[in-house]
Amino acid sequence: MKTGIVERIVNGGWGLVRSTEGIVFLTGVIPGETVEFEIKEKARGILWGRLLKIISSHHSRVKAVCPYYEECGGCCFQHIEYTFQQTIKTSIFLDDLKRIAGLERRIDRYIVSPPFGYRIRARMKPASNNYIGFIKKSTNQVLQINNCLLFNERINRFLTAWNNQKSPPFFYQYDILFNPDNEKLYVHLSHPPSTKTEIILKAYSDVVFTWKGNEQAGISHIKIGNFKYLTSASLFFQNNFFMLENLLNLVKQYLCSHDTAIDLYSGVGFFLPLLCSHSKQTIGVENSSFAVKLASMSFPEASIYNMPVEKFDFPPADIILCDPPRSGLSNIVKKKIKDRNYKSIIYISCNSATFCRDLRFFLDHGYQIKDINLIDLFPQTSHFEIVSNIILT
Ligand SMILES: C[S@@+](CC[C@H](N)C(=O)[O-])C[C@H]1O[C@@H](n2cnc3c(N)ncnc32)[C@H](O)[C@@H]1O
Repeated sequence: MKTGIVERIVNGGWGLVRSTEGIVFLTGVIPGETVEFEIKEKARGILWGRLLKIISSHHSRVKAVCPYYEECGGCCFQHIEYTFQQTIKTSIFLDDLKRIAGLERRIDRYIVSPPFGYRIRARMKPASNNYIGFIKKSTNQVLQINNCLLFNERINRFLTAWNNQKSPPFFYQYDILFNPDNEKLYVHLSHPPSTKTEIILKAYSDVVFTWKGNEQAGISHIKIGNFKYLTSASLFFQNNFFMLENLLNLVKQYLCSHDTAIDLYSGVGFFLPLLCSHSKQTIGVENSSFAVKLASMSFPEASIYNMPVEKFDFPPADIILCDPPRSGLSNIVKKKIKDRNYKSIIYISCNSATFCRDLRFFLDHGYQIKDINLIDLFPQTSHFEIVSNIILT
């Protein structure tokens, strides 16, 4: 058993404590707290600990409201008052910015969200008894969840009903989307149901079920501000419904009147109508053919290429927006952007480490940061979204 002071929280939500054996990472702590802990595991030179006792607690410590909090791998900041989560997320980002991008700079804005009930999308997995839930902390087992405080209440009604069945059918993945516009719930299943399972699904008369091969049956319209999108539970859609207009407004401040705008990783076209309203020509690039089909139907004025961004022949443009997956931009994509000397890059990222790695590349090739904002799309977790404008000097 050891004691130590939590120095800070790093990317991934881990609290860093120095011990005689080296740096130990712990969950469930807040910077400044004195804690008692044990070392659980040493893996590739990193020490992972387990919190035993809080000796002196931080004033922002609160009792987590979710009964699953101790076990569930979904949230890691519920023991921290929401306003203080902002301080911690900002410091995680500034730490990555300094360590990875070599840049010391303040952020320009931090936009907060309602702290609970914000999620309209969820990916669930089956537990051993087929009841659905989330991966348990530090395991690959699934914990049955009947109610998640981050979800819109309509998703929770479905979870409770599904998990109340005596013996639910097995699917290895459930992609759930609540559409606040038509108030319908869409559940995309990992494979087609058997005839027997189809009878079970029919009992959920207010849920639209789809599976591989019949995705078309689950297409729906969703309205954000003045823009109307087509989407489906099987595709990526921004998860925090309360923050979507804010996200568009952050991007809007970087736009003026352009000839050509490019939207890399355009998905179902979340940013396309905004780019179209400021540009004579808007080009999207996305590798999911279904997403491209829906985006082309929603925004016929945009030209959308269905291909990996790596294979795209980058044309000249005034502005390029990139919203890549967590892995960030590949070296090929970064080089293609740099070779075209785009004057303005709008980089949107949900991963601070890969964002800072990519930012370093652009700083090394004549770019500088004009604006960086954090927008909290993921309260109670250690994640946040970065919205930035990087310009050629
Ligand atoms: C973070 S999502 C952003 C989608 C969209 N911008 C939005 O806000 O809804 C990333 C998108 O990139 C797509 N994608 C992932 N890797 C890709 C690649 N190598 N080339 C093209 N698209 C890719 C995914 O299918 C997904 O739609």
